Amino acid sequence: MDRTAQVIARPAGHAVVYGPGPAADALHLRAVAVLDANWTGTSTVPSRGLYPHQWSWDSAFIAIGLRHVSPLRAQTELETLLAAQWGDGRVPHIVFNPSVPLDAYFPSPDFWRSSAAGREAGAPRTVQTSGIVQPPVHALAAWLVHRADPGLSRSRGFLARVYPRLAAWHRYLLHRRDLGGGGLVCVVHPWEQGMDNSPAWDAPLARVAPAPARSFRRADLDHGAAEDRPTDLDYGRYVRLAADYRDRGYADGAGEFAVEDPAFNALLVASEHALARIAHELGATGTARHARADRLTAALVDRLWDPARGMFLCRDLRGGRPVAERAVSGLIPLLLPGLPREVTTALVGTLTGPHFALGTATRLVPSYDLLGEAFDPHRYWRGPAWFNTGWLLERGLRLHGETARADALRAALLDLASASDFAEYVDPYTGEACGTSGFGWTAALALDLLHTAPETDHRTPGRDR
Ligand code: SER
Repeated sequence: MDRTAQVIARPAGHAVVYGPGPAADALHLRAVAVLDANWTGTSTVPSRGLYPHQWSWDSAFIAIGLRHVSPLRAQTELETLLAAQWGDGRVPHIVFNPSVPLDAYFPSPDFWRSSAAGREAGAPRTVQTSGIVQPPVHALAAWLVHRADPGLSRSRGFLARVYPRLAAWHRYLLHRRDLGGGGLVCVVHPWEQGMDNSPAWDAPLARVAPAPARSFRRADLDHGAAEDRPTDLDYGRYVRLAADYRDRGYADGAGEFAVEDPAFNALLVASEHALARIAHELGATGTARHARADRLTAALVDRLWDPARGMFLCRDLRGGRPVAERAVSGLIPLLLPGLPREVTTALVGTLTGPHFALGTATRLVPSYDLLGEAFDPHRYWRGPAWFNTGWLLERGLRLHGETARADALRAALLDLASASDFAEYVDPYTGEACGTSGFGWTAALALDLLHTAPETDHRTPGRDR
């Protein structure tokens, strides 16, 4: 792998202000070039080498950036993904491009066998997909994409077409995935939550017997350094869980892995608020959806808040207890407008305290506890900083009036996106690029930050915007 080994640490608290000007223009052009290179004609790949198909939450983040360059492409991105929705409402985490060779990515369509194994669940016949899901960022993305060019959106009937699909998607999650019965949604595979290799999954995954290493061939190691990627043992467990789910016809409820995750549920709340706005735009009141988002927020606090740690934890349903690991997922609910004041105050304290050290030892938010035993500054979701979580927390800080911290995080996201050549993730201490470069959501979210200047933006996912 061509790793760009740049050490780009800055003095703590130092922030470059990206206003209009040549630096912003140059970054804009480079980010657009990444999105152009990754565009297939109907959607955007996260990365040409490592991820050569369409990924669900990547596409949502990518649409959020694309709206500043081409609102039409941003709408198309979401429409392409939603066209692969299953009859039961699930939006698959990968939509496969049939022109990409089978061995370019594993697990490939012949592993998932969606149209056969997923028939009962209503998998589409004409397109091959995976059978698991990813975080529901899509309604939030659809609303932001609409807002970028309401005239185009109305003339194409964009919201009217995506609304029923987004509503069915949320219905699937709320009705089929409340496996704990407490009002929150469960993930049944670490890939569903998106932060695949987080130490928060170590305990729940330890119960899963790994598929033998010789029974599959990893394609990711052709494109990423082995020390940046999950281990073979973890991969064996991912494969076993996915194969078992497939062999149950993708029916929900019986799997060995079932976790309530704070980020997944917080993104559902943010998207439920966005869906309420979309409903309102289409002539309904949206009140019931706002009320449901408020109930979900209350359930999130009730089931996952850990006052002693000052953050949210995952709940391992099969193990019957919270997972005592500090992962960035547990900070993401800061994004939400309806949290109790003491919760937001504690979250900001944790974000800036010794475990995540934002603004002191780190400029971007590490994906895992700097002081945790499993911390690794380079390995996939076990420490490195990612741009999507940074983007979500920047919104959260701004929403809760932490303007100086939000400004510093915004500047760091832009600096490091640029210096790392739009890396997939970076070492949280040094900014060294990890994973792959030319990564779709890194470029897209840099564009979004460039084009939503702090003093003029309208980014709050709450009911007031
Ligand atoms: N993120 C997983 C991978 O690394 C699957 O979505 O392939």
